[in-house]
Amino acid sequence: MSAPNKSYDPVEVEALKPDAIERMRTDALAAIAAAGDLEALTHVKTAHTGGGSPLALANREIGALPPQAKAEAGKRVGQARGAVNQALAARQAELEAERDARVLVEEAVDVTLPYDRRPAGARHPLTTLSERIEDIFTAMGYEVAEGPEVEAEWFNFDALNFPPDHPARETQDTFFVEGRGGSGESGVVLRTHTSPVQIRALLERELPVYVIAPGRVYRSDELDATHTPVFAQVELLAVDEGLTMADLKGTLDHMVVSLFGEGMTTRLRPNHFPFTEPSAEMDMLCYVCRGDSVGNPDRPCRTCSSEGWIELGGCGVVNPRVLTACGVDPEKYSGFAFGFGIERMLMFRHNVEDMRDIVEGDVRFTLPFGMEI
Ligand code: DAH
Repeated sequence: MSAPNKSYDPVEVEALKPDAIERMRTDALAAIAAAGDLEALTHVKTAHTGGGSPLALANREIGALPPQAKAEAGKRVGQARGAVNQALAARQAELEAERDARVLVEEAVDVTLPYDRRPAGARHPLTTLSERIEDIFTAMGYEVAEGPEVEAEWFNFDALNFPPDHPARETQDTFFVEGRGGSGESGVVLRTHTSPVQIRALLERELPVYVIAPGRVYRSDELDATHTPVFAQVELLAVDEGLTMADLKGTLDHMVVSLFGEGMTTRLRPNHFPFTEPSAEMDMLCYVCRGDSVGNPDRPCRTCSSEGWIELGGCGVVNPRVLTACGVDPEKYSGFAFGFGIERMLMFRHNVEDMRDIVEGDVRFTLPFGMEI
């Protein structure tokens, strides 16, 4: 700020001379007009009206003038500042309008355009259920094992102690990829069950072996409401020292409790499989009526046909011949195994009435199952 002005004439103060003020105004107006966007205008505003701007500094000089001179200088500076502020506001409005118009064009949505009609797809509920079962067992320390779907007949039948003339080997049950060689060497089949993974697991792994093996299997059935030539099974094998049928029963019970909730249990009925001895058919308590429908005509159960139990699959103590075929000493080791198809479990768990819905892979079927993580 300059020293108090002695001459009473504001024109004498450099910053307050009319042409200086005029120059400040024209500079400011030119800069405002030249500002191409709102950001540039903000800088112009600071430069020409902010605390350090020439007009603000001039304004401060007024305070030092003698009273007579203040009015005239004040008017001159005030008018210039007013003009600049007005121009700023006008330019601001202009630039905002331009921006709005541009955004409207740039971000316009053509509501008449066709949308993307391809749905994102969905996970198949069989995959989800199979992963749930895997999770139950991997949580107990089991490993997930796999085998090929096109399998040597030896793995699918011979090593599992199926006699050479066993009816399951007939072509009405089994899809043969290559028949047996004339000299009796193993043919190639589409695996009819996941049990050959038991053999592969025993041959490939160190003992003890605890594996769970989900997978696709094939049988020469017609596709109808209750049959499919391609279906999914889950196989389990545990081979260790001292394992018994009691371990099998406890493991099965744990599985159905994990899948269907507390109070669920399983029951074993004698059966025969070449690769287990003893062998059993395993049923689980009907998860809907929990057995209450049995002998209770007032409360019939559609899920289990009022039987109280639902058939799951086969199980048993691993036949020592299978252990021997895999080079495992049956005197030292024993094991248990089970296998079951999961389509049926999916059907009664979700009231699916037709097997074909599971097989066809229509996304309208799979979508409502949602995600399970
Ligand atoms: N593989 C048999 C089938 O598909 C089911 C089965 C029975 C699996 C007994 C097993 C078992 O592991 O121990 O019919």
